[in-house]
Amino acid sequence: MRVLGIETSCDETGVAIYDGEKGLLAQQLYSQVALHAEYGGVVPELASRDHIRKLLPLVEALLQSAQLNREAIDGIAYTAGPGLAGALLVGACFARSLAYAWKIPAIGVHHLEGHLLSPMLETPAPEFPFLALLVSGGHTLLAEVQGLGAYTLLGESLDDAAGEAFDKTAKILGLGYPGGPMLAKLAETGDITRYHFPRPMTDRPGLDFSFSGLKTHVLHAWQQSDHAMQTKCDMAACFQQAVIDTLVIKCMRALTQTKAKQLVVSGGVSANLALRAKLTEKAASLGVKVFFPRLEFCTDNGAMIAYAGYQRLMAGQHEPLAVEIRSRWPLDGLN
Ligand code: KG4
Ligand code: ZN
Repeated sequence: MRVLGIETSCDETGVAIYDGEKGLLAQQLYSQVALHAEYGGVVPELASRDHIRKLLPLVEALLQSAQLNREAIDGIAYTAGPGLAGALLVGACFARSLAYAWKIPAIGVHHLEGHLLSPMLETPAPEFPFLALLVSGGHTLLAEVQGLGAYTLLGESLDDAAGEAFDKTAKILGLGYPGGPMLAKLAETGDITRYHFPRPMTDRPGLDFSFSGLKTHVLHAWQQSDHAMQTKCDMAACFQQAVIDTLVIKCMRALTQTKAKQLVVSGGVSANLALRAKLTEKAASLGVKVFFPRLEFCTDNGAMIAYAGYQRLMAGQHEPLAVEIRSRWPLDGLN
């Protein structure tokens, strides 16, 4: 079975084709970053309009690059939530209409399930069951994954997600949008011992996160600083180290608690190289292997939606024709 995946939940238009036998055949991504940069964040209405402009040409380019015609597609998967309602509706209407015209099934996919399963596109792939750490711009959570749709939430962010904390801190330091990758770049030349920022909620039991206070610490330190370039790098490095240490402490706690032997890390912040290195090293001390998606599949993309949709269609899941999206959608509500 070949599945066309369509991702439009935020500011990336992603399309891809996943083949059950051959794996990922092709993918195309259009990022709206330049469109939103002048506003310092995503403008939902502009995001919806741009998805409308880009979807058809992207799907055409995708089919061409895979050297396939539309008869080769057996099903369509689209992101049905969580995300920006207007942006989700564009992808959902487009996907359902295409599936109706092509007389093939369509399936709405949970965006976080897409992220969660994205390391399964790699070789070697993790195998169920595993512990999952999902660190994106909108969500931070730890879940026990028993199988497809069997997710037990162990902990989540009570306020800002890890990626959101990176972006807000980058803004404080005067970096552009989206600031996460830029802050990570600055951190490479920073001194991680110059400032000590808190490791929130690590001094008490539990697996929840809270990152909003951390950026306030950076704000105060920045306001009292000399604003020199090296200071900016040092602050970026110390902030990043605080987030990494917090995530590592919680992962180690969850691994001990669940006795899981595999840790699967996904979402935009999993592209952070310092986080990857520290998690891999620490988990190895427990005999745990860590899996990440390739860098380009850490952030939003069509491949992860095609893959999750393929799994659900193969499991025999069907949906009525009506277009439904959920801008809020708990991951453990899936089956
Ligand atoms: O998963 P994603 O594309 O979007 C959501 O589903 O939310 O994640 C985007 C987030 C942004 O907050 C971005 O700043 C962050 O991932 N990010 C990073 C890095 N690359 C992307 N954060 C830290 N280090 C990076 N290298
Ligand atoms: Zn995402």
